[in-house]
Amino acid sequence: MKATAIAHPNIALVKYWGKRDAELNLPATGSLSWTFGPMRTRTFVEWTSGGVDAGTSADRIRFDGEVATGRDAARIARFLDMVRSRRPELGAATVVTDNDFPTAAGLASSAAGFAALALAATSAAGLNLEPHELSVLARRGSGSAARSLSGGFVRMHRGENPDGSDAYAEQIFGADHWPLRMLVALTTTGRKAVSSTVGMNRTVDTSPYFDAWTREVPLQLEAATRAIEARDFEAVAAVAEHSACAMHASALAARPAVIYWKPATLAVMHLVTELRAAGTPAFFTIDAGPHVKVITAPDAAELVESALRDIDGVVDVIPAGPGGDAQLVT
Ligand code: PMV
Repeated sequence: MKATAIAHPNIALVKYWGKRDAELNLPATGSLSWTFGPMRTRTFVEWTSGGVDAGTSADRIRFDGEVATGRDAARIARFLDMVRSRRPELGAATVVTDNDFPTAAGLASSAAGFAALALAATSAAGLNLEPHELSVLARRGSGSAARSLSGGFVRMHRGENPDGSDAYAEQIFGADHWPLRMLVALTTTGRKAVSSTVGMNRTVDTSPYFDAWTREVPLQLEAATRAIEARDFEAVAAVAEHSACAMHASALAARPAVIYWKPATLAVMHLVTELRAAGTPAFFTIDAGPHVKVITAPDAAELVESALRDIDGVVDVIPAGPGGDAQLVT
């Protein structure tokens, strides 16, 4: 009744921003991501048997060496309840999860975290879920987690079914298809102020630009898929930067505005634009935080990294490369 799994984070090249059902965590649009490593989340789960009394929370959860509390613990316990609902004889769980990278630093720790938890918790429970079903379950923990179960380039489907059974992610090209590099330019330390869920829900509820955003995403998905298939760097750069800027534009138009950027965020965006104009393959993308992920080619990575380190306000640069599938480990 125990298992350990690892999963890598992922970065969306076509962003997910907005839910069509908050309870089931159903995305308003599809999305497309690239899984990266070597950073990873490692999660151990052990179940007791005998069921649990409704409303109790006997799960023991350790997160990065400390007992998890508050929102983190509640999200994990809620996820464990979903696994228990499939096998009511399961009792409380012990969960030990560690990131080998800074948690909530804009490195998609919830994506890697819920992917590893979904795989470890279901395997430990003896539920051998098909990839599609596992992806649907991981999505309940965090929308982007469904994408971290697979390595390489991954497409998340919006789905049409009200129960979310067709809102899942699948690999479209393997990690070896295109060995890109990524440099994460950290512009602050510590946790972000507005979580992605709060930011996207406010955008859905109040931004006049949200509908325009959802209408455009299917076109972005097609363009990105074609560009990745052809390994056309310029074309991927164009669609990924547009997706990130359009996502942030919709968030900026919420009431009150959801503003994730810091001055150094913009400085990195300008630098990357200049580098590309001068012939260096590099493009930026930004999630629900102030950090900038710069995607580049292996032979340009050193130059881009040192240019990023020279920017005032960039506190660190973390290099990354292609990441593989989530997997069970011993
Ligand atoms: O998976 P969530 O609920 O943390 O949302 C992810 C939102 C973005 O990172 C901004 C975009 C994405 O597709 O990963």
